[in-house]
Amino acid sequence: MKNLLVTGGAGFIGANFVHHMLKTYPDYRIVVFDKLTYAGNLNNLKAVEQNPRYAFVQGDICDATVVRNAIQEHSIDTIVNFAAETHVDRSILDPDAFVRTNVYGPYVLCEAAKDLRLERLHHISTDEVYGPIREGKFKEADRFKPTSPYAAAKAGGELLVLSYFQTYHLPITVTRGVNTYGPYQYPEKAIPLFVTNAIDDQPLPLYGDGMQVRDRLHALDHALAVDVVLHRGQLGEAYNVAADMEHTNIDVARRILKLLNKPESLIQPVLDRPAHDVRYALDADKLGALGWEPQVTFDQGLEETVQWYVANEAWWRPLKSGEYLDYYQKQYTNRAQTLADEVLKS
Ligand code: NAD
Ligand code: DAU
Repeated sequence: MKNLLVTGGAGFIGANFVHHMLKTYPDYRIVVFDKLTYAGNLNNLKAVEQNPRYAFVQGDICDATVVRNAIQEHSIDTIVNFAAETHVDRSILDPDAFVRTNVYGPYVLCEAAKDLRLERLHHISTDEVYGPIREGKFKEADRFKPTSPYAAAKAGGELLVLSYFQTYHLPITVTRGVNTYGPYQYPEKAIPLFVTNAIDDQPLPLYGDGMQVRDRLHALDHALAVDVVLHRGQLGEAYNVAADMEHTNIDVARRILKLLNKPESLIQPVLDRPAHDVRYALDADKLGALGWEPQVTFDQGLEETVQWYVANEAWWRPLKSGEYLDYYQKQYTNRAQTLADEVLKS
C-alpha cells in the first residue's frame, strides 16, 4: 500500500485523513478524487497542495471511466472511499443524489477495484446504518435498521461493498464511525452551525426537545481509526468507531455558548427532524483489539474546534451564503409547511 486514491478527500473527514496520512507516512502518495459538490472544498487541502506526494483529480465516483483513468494514471493500489452525500436533512428534502452517490458510487468503486486488481478498497460507513438505540450499544454483527434516506443509502452502499468480499474475494474493509466534529466541517452540521451562528449572535436552531444523544468523535480520531484498519484490519470485516463521549444536543449547544461567552437565550427550539433518531451508540471493542483508542476528549476537542472556527472566519464565511442560503430557505419553507399541515390536521 503506497498509492492511495482518497475519494471525497476534499470534504471534512476526508481532508483530515489526507493531512494525517501525508504527515504519518513519508513514502505514501495521495491522490484526492472529488466531485467538489457544495461540500467539497479545495481550501481544506491548501496546506498540502504544494506537496509533491499529493495530487487532485476532479471527478464523480459514479463515473466509471473517470475513476478507472485516475487509478491507472496514478498507479493506485488502494482506494479509501469517503465520498458521499452526507447531510441527513438534505436527504429528507431531496434523496436523489444520496441514492446515486451513496449506493451506485460504491458499486462503481468495487467494480474498478476488482477489474484493476487493487490491494484494498476501504469504505467509510456510519453508525446510522444500525438506526437508533435507546439503551446499550450495537456490535458489528447487529442488523441494519436505517431510518433516513441518507442512512438507508449508506447501508445499501456498504452492503454492496461487503458482498464483493463474499462473492469476488475483493479485499475490502469497512469502518462505521459515530458523529464526527472538528476543523473543516461544513457549517450545515449541528456543531459548526451552532458555533458560527453563536459567533454572529444568531439563534442556534435546536430540533425538538434537544434530548437526542450522539457520541462525539474528533475528526483526527476518525482518521486514525481508518489508518489502523487499513494497516491492521482483517479483510472482509467491518469495524465500529466510537468515542464513548455521549452528549445530548442541548448540552452541546450550551457548551458552545459557554465557550464563546454567549447567552443561552440564543438557543431556539424548532420543529423536529422527521424520524429523528433519538440515540446512536456503538461498541468499538473490535477496533480496540487492533490497538486504536480515541486520543481527544470532548472537552478538549470542542474547545479547540470552537477556537478553530473563531480563527478561520475566512474559511467558513463564504460558505454561509449563496447555495447554503438557498438550502436554508428551502428547508425553512418545508418546515413551515409541515407545521401548517399539522395545525390543520389537529
Ligand atoms: P462531507 O459532506 O464533508 O464531504 C463529502 C465529500 O464527498 C465532499 O468533498 C464532496 O465533494 C464529495 N463527493 C460527494 N459526492 C461525490 C461524488 N459523487 N463523487 C466524488 N466525490 C463526491 O462529508 P464528511 O462528513 O467528511 O463524511 C465523509 C464520509 O464519512 C461519508 O461517507 C460519511 O457518510 C461518513 N461519515 C461521516 C460522519 C460525520 O459525522 N461527518 C460520521 C460517520 C461517517
Ligand atoms: O452519526 C454519524 C452521522 O453524523 C454521519 O453519518 C452524518 O453524515 C453526519 O451528518 C452526522 O449526522 P447527524 O444527523 O447526527 O448530524 P447533524 O450535525 O446533522 O445533527 C446532529 C444532531 O443535532 C442531530 O440529533 C440533529 C441535531 N440538529 C442538527 C441540526 C443541523 C439540531 O438540533 N439542529 C440543527 O440545526
